[in-house]
Amino acid sequence: MSFDLVLFGGTGDLTWRKLMPALFQAFRHGKLPAGGRILAVARDERSDEAYRAFVRERFAEVEASKQPSDEEFARFAQLLHYRRMDLSRPADYAGLAQWVAARGAETVVMYLATSPALFPVICEQLGAAGLNGSRVRVVLEKPLGHDLASAQAINRVVRSAFAEAQALRIDHYLGKPAVQNLMALRFGNALFEPLWRRESIASIQITLAERIGVGTRGDYYDRTGALRDMIQNHALQLLTMIAMEPPASADADAIRDEKLKVLKSLRPFTPETVTRDVVRGQYRAGGIAGEAVKGYLEEVRVPADSRCETFVALRTEVQNWRWAGVPFYLRTGKRLPARDAQIVVNFRAVPHPIFPGSHRANKLVIKLQPEDGLELHLLAAKGSLAIGGQAERLSPVKLDLDFDKAFPTERVGAYERLLLDALAGRLNLFVRSDEQEQAWRWVMPVLQAWEEDTAGPRPYTAGTWGPPASSAMVARDGHAWDEET
Ligand code: BG6
Repeated sequence: MSFDLVLFGGTGDLTWRKLMPALFQAFRHGKLPAGGRILAVARDERSDEAYRAFVRERFAEVEASKQPSDEEFARFAQLLHYRRMDLSRPADYAGLAQWVAARGAETVVMYLATSPALFPVICEQLGAAGLNGSRVRVVLEKPLGHDLASAQAINRVVRSAFAEAQALRIDHYLGKPAVQNLMALRFGNALFEPLWRRESIASIQITLAERIGVGTRGDYYDRTGALRDMIQNHALQLLTMIAMEPPASADADAIRDEKLKVLKSLRPFTPETVTRDVVRGQYRAGGIAGEAVKGYLEEVRVPADSRCETFVALRTEVQNWRWAGVPFYLRTGKRLPARDAQIVVNFRAVPHPIFPGSHRANKLVIKLQPEDGLELHLLAAKGSLAIGGQAERLSPVKLDLDFDKAFPTERVGAYERLLLDALAGRLNLFVRSDEQEQAWRWVMPVLQAWEEDTAGPRPYTAGTWGPPASSAMVARDGHAWDEET
């Protein structure tokens, strides 16, 4: 399959941090279809050669095992091209259209790795230049909008130029192997489905914890905050994967219809429930892994009086027959003690315990980070009874599935996976506009309540699991966050 992949924002952070390394991995694994061209588009003037040298230099910042050798880079670089464009100038799009037409590739993917403020103008201009035919797809990076109204405005422009099936909204969490495995676990095995409901499950926790602070992204982050950056998209997408009904088929729309139903079933927030069920925090100076780190307000490009949240924990429910009454706890934060992304499915305790001691119930842990894997926590007898001793006390033990060990040669990173899907036109792992708008609709009352609340985020010390109010919120239901059990 011949393809043209056009990267708008071709010299930007996302391109060299995520997209180029992912494209190189796909190339190295022989998964990038031969006969492709990758065209980086940006504002300044440079030659293909200068752009290749720029990318080569940036690879030095990638982890060692993912760096190309000189020979590998020389081959990869043949795919790379560069074009200067002023994104508001119709003539520049006409030039691009000629470049694309001259080759006549079977698939053309326009990847918008720019600020979302530029999405409307790029989509309009692509449409006006006729770069929206049926072999063209457009990939839109998050954040797609700042609130419901801005997301709808962007979607309107996108729709005016592209059909829904041509517009691929990326949420890179959906490309993580653990998410594929969650689908496989639920819909490829009959084992868990009878248990996957309120009768057997006591609570679900989704934690997306990061050790890093905001680094040099202070200006972006301060306009965004943890709710928009991680909850509205990544955490909610994971929630839909956990809670959705089995789709009728593996078709993109069959899956996305079910995910949309979950988003529509989430209990809507009111000002009262925001106060009770949502905790926001902001990190103060502290220590992580023995290293002193500064507070959010001291970070570069962060105003000293910022009220931006770097931590959110919330409680919600999926209001349908399967999940009624089961709390879903979502939590994310910067400068937490660990880089740890996981979903914990806590099963109910046995109805009539016959063994002594109080036992933790079973749980299934789907680990996304730092490594992906599945852990099933069970209680087992150690079998060390002495004659005349008490009845057996049970000990927790886990069945531990490490996917890197199970499939050592097959691992594909999230961006690599999603880029290949975009080129192949597989839409399953992209977010449809109605899902995305529904997710915004759901978070809006929280954003509104925060705007009116004079208290601001609660402080937490860097290197802790957020403000104590987060644990208290979960404890109210008689539960505890996973690391506290
Ligand atoms: C991005 C957020 O979407 O996801 C970042 O904008 C965050 O703030 C990142 O650090 C986390 O992604 P990952 O894959 O490293 O968990």
